[in-house]
Amino acid sequence: MRMSVIGCGYLGAVHAAAMASIGHDVIGIDVDERKVAALNAGSAPFFEPQLTELLTEGRESGRLRFSDRMADAAGAQVHFLAVGTPQIPGGHAADLRYVDAAIDGLLPHLRPGDVIAGKSTVPVGTAARLATRVADSGATVVWNPEFLREGWAVHDTLTPDRLVVGAEPDAAGERGVAVLREVYAAAVEAGTPFLVTDLATAELVKGAANAFLATKISFINAMAEIADASGADVALLADALGHDSRIGRRYLGAGIGFGGGCLPKDIRAFAARAEELGRGEAVGFLHEVDAINLRRRERAVQLVVDALGGLVFGRRIAVLGAAFKPFSDDIRDSPGLDVAVRLRGLGADVVVTDPAALDNAAAAHPQLGYARDRNDALREADAVVIVTEWDEYRRDLSPAHAGGLVRGRIIIDGRNCLDAAAWRAAGWQYHGMGRR
Ligand code: UDX
Repeated sequence: MRMSVIGCGYLGAVHAAAMASIGHDVIGIDVDERKVAALNAGSAPFFEPQLTELLTEGRESGRLRFSDRMADAAGAQVHFLAVGTPQIPGGHAADLRYVDAAIDGLLPHLRPGDVIAGKSTVPVGTAARLATRVADSGATVVWNPEFLREGWAVHDTLTPDRLVVGAEPDAAGERGVAVLREVYAAAVEAGTPFLVTDLATAELVKGAANAFLATKISFINAMAEIADASGADVALLADALGHDSRIGRRYLGAGIGFGGGCLPKDIRAFAARAEELGRGEAVGFLHEVDAINLRRRERAVQLVVDALGGLVFGRRIAVLGAAFKPFSDDIRDSPGLDVAVRLRGLGADVVVTDPAALDNAAAAHPQLGYARDRNDALREADAVVIVTEWDEYRRDLSPAHAGGLVRGRIIIDGRNCLDAAAWRAAGWQYHGMGRR
């Protein structure tokens, strides 16, 4: 099927490449000329496993092209909206300017029967508003939220847990759903649940899913606070809770909390929209979820300060990780970088290392020190803080090797990802988060 994907960031670039890989004829549109040039050259403008391979394959097959001209979207049967919806400056609501700009740009090129499939995370009610805006063109708006995780984006796009399509309950809506069913025919045939809803429900699924995941993480981090105060171990607690099949172990990883381009801003936008709808109290707990999450960063800083006897000024601190999570170069709202910045603010000599996100981190926070080589970051450090559980630190860093490089054998495990006993046995003072 001929399709356009408007917005080629983490979501759109992966969606475009994945759709081409299953046989569709795809044009990706983005206003950023440099990004378009990179994508056309088969190079991913950000770190995402398997994306480069798909871009190269798409280019060679002739089924995948990128352009900065919206006119090139003309003639596609379905237009996926994949632009960003960041937090508005100075507020909590979602900024819909890129969504509206995409519709403005697309309008002159729409033909009757075209399907616009929204993938961006938007406040409930947006799809209905966009449907009114494009009504005169004869195009149909459906909503098809995206649940991909960075680092697993290709996998999640090609083999999603479920597909959700929201549409108006009329003939045009039904046709829109049929078109999307055809787009995802391979996944549907493989047994992926395909849920058809109204527009509002489809928009809510995404916000609710992210709110639930964020709540789960903050719940276990709240338990970490209690564990700290009572001498319990939150990692063992999470294991024991996780065996309850009604609860499950995933997203019960306590530590410095969640970050990234989605969960933090999405729970805020969700609460802001609920308030607009006069139902703010229904999601009042999300303010707590946010507050618990932000307290974790403060707690990590406190652990470092305490471990150094209250004196961090001028002390050298190695921060392992900058990305908000492993297998990503994304530093948006990275809890680990926030911890690094706070320590620097206390006068520490902070050196950050990361296998993928170093350039992004250095551009955003030039006041921090950086080392490309993990060993250079560790050398002469008075304390080490692990903030992103890359395999390079979690699995491959031996306590004995690291011990030979540092000045002080103090490690703060911000992701509770290390074997505490092994580090202690090698003479390290080990501090987990909410762990004995
Ligand atoms: C998330 C959702 O998972 C995805 O469905 C949605 O489409 C976009 O937002 P992503 O932002 O890529 O995806 O990251 P995710 O893997 O969910 O992790 C989010 C953050 O939570 C990371 O900072 C991670 O380190 C943290 N996290 C995750 C925890 O602190 N503990 C956990 O147990 C799990």
